[in-house]
Amino acid sequence: MKVAVVAGARPNFVKIAPLVNAMEKTGVCEPIVVHTGQHYDDLMSHVFFRDLEIREPDHNLGVGSASHVIQTSRIMERFDKFLHDAPVDLVVVVGDVNSTVACALTAVKCGLPVAHVEAGLRSFDREMPEEINRVVTDVLSEFLFAPSPDAVENLKREGKPDENIHFVGNVMVDTLLRFLDKAHSTSRIVDALELETGGYALLTLHRPRNVDTGPAFGGILEAIGEIQKDIRVVYPVHPRSMRMIQSLGLGGQANNIDGLKMIQPLGYLDFVELESRARFVMTDSGGVQEETTVLGVPCITLRPNTERPVTVTKGTNRVAGTSRDAIVQAARDVLADEPRGAGEIPELWDGHAAERIVSVLDEAGARNM
Ligand code: UD1
Ligand code: UDP
Repeated sequence: MKVAVVAGARPNFVKIAPLVNAMEKTGVCEPIVVHTGQHYDDLMSHVFFRDLEIREPDHNLGVGSASHVIQTSRIMERFDKFLHDAPVDLVVVVGDVNSTVACALTAVKCGLPVAHVEAGLRSFDREMPEEINRVVTDVLSEFLFAPSPDAVENLKREGKPDENIHFVGNVMVDTLLRFLDKAHSTSRIVDALELETGGYALLTLHRPRNVDTGPAFGGILEAIGEIQKDIRVVYPVHPRSMRMIQSLGLGGQANNIDGLKMIQPLGYLDFVELESRARFVMTDSGGVQEETTVLGVPCITLRPNTERPVTVTKGTNRVAGTSRDAIVQAARDVLADEPRGAGEIPELWDGHAAERIVSVLDEAGARNM
C-alpha cells in the first residue's frame, strides 16, 4: 500500500516522524513523504527532519506563504498534480493546518481515501482558522485517528460512523518520548542561554488572535513585563510574531523588558530541552500544551479555550485567557504552587500511537481497502 504522508508546517513534522518510522519499520505501508512547503525556513522546517531523523521529503510542493485562500488553493493545485503523477492508495494528513485540509480535499476529489491523525479535536471556536480545518478534514476522512476520549465523543456527536473512529493516542507524544533522552544528552541550550533548571519561564506565541493586532500582542507583552519581575522569560519568536512585532512597532516595547529574552525559533531538541527544564510554560500552541502535560511542567494557555481539554482535566494545563491581569495572576498562582505540575498522563499517551495507526491501516489493507 503506497501512502502519501503529508506535512507542511512545524507541528506536522513532529507528528509525521513516528508515522513514517512505524511504516518503514513494519513494511505495512510504503510512505511517500510530501512536504507542501507551507513552512520553509531552516528553523521552521529542515531542522525537524534532521532532529527527528525523518528522511528528506520525497516531494516538496514549494507553496510558501500567502493568504489562507491562496495558500490552500495553491496546495490543492500542486497536490492534485502530484497525485496524478505518482499514484497512491491512501493519503495521511495530520493536525489542523492549511496543508491538512487542502490535501484532504484534493485526495477525496481524486477518489482517494484519507486518514486524519489527530481527528476530533474541537475548540468550538470558529474564529480560529484551525477549527475550520479540523471540522472539514474530519468530514472528508475515512480513517479518524483520535488522540483522546473527548475527541472520540466529538466525532460520535457529529455522526461519524463508529467503524471509522479509532482511539489510538497521541503521535506528538510518541515523538516526545522517543527523543527526550536525545534532547537531554545533546542540547546545550540551557547553558548557552545562561539559565538554570527551574529558573525561567518559556513563552511561545503565534495565534493570529494574539499576535496580529497591536492591542492584543501589546497586552500580552505588558503581562510578560510584570511576570519577568519574578522570573526570567525566554521567548523563541515564531516568524509570524516577528513579522508582527516589526510591523506593529512593538520591537521597542519588547526589547525594553529586561528579563525577557527573545530568540529565534528553536529546533525540536533544543526546544524540548528548554521546555522540560522550565519552571513553567506560557503558550498559545496546541502541541506545547500536550508536551508540558507529559513532561509534568505547568502550562498556562494564553487563549480563551483549548481543543485539548484532557491537558486541563488530566494534565498540567490551565487556560488563562489573554487579558493582562489574568495572565499575570496565572503566573503568580503557578509560582506559588509546587514546582512540578501535579498531572496524570492521559490514556494511551504512551509512545505507541503510530504503531496502532499502522496496525489499523494494515487490517484495512488486508480487507482490500
Ligand atoms: C501555521 C498554522 C497554525 C500552526 C502554525 C504552527 C494555518 C492556518 N496555520 O500558522 O495552525 O499552529 O503554523 O507553527 O495553517 N513564515 C516565515 N517562514 C516560514 C513560515 C512562515 O517567515 O518558514 C512567516 C510568513 O510571514 C507567513 C507567516 O509566518 O506569512 C505565517 O505563516 P503561515 O504558515 O501562514 O501560518 P502560521 O502562523 O505559521
Ligand atoms: N517547537 C519547536 N521550536 C520552537 C517552538 C515549538 O521545536 O521554537 C515545537 C514544539 O515542541 C512542538 C511543536 O513545535 O512539538 C508545536 O508547534 P507549534 O507551536 O508551531 O504549532 P501548534 O502545535 O500550535 O499547531
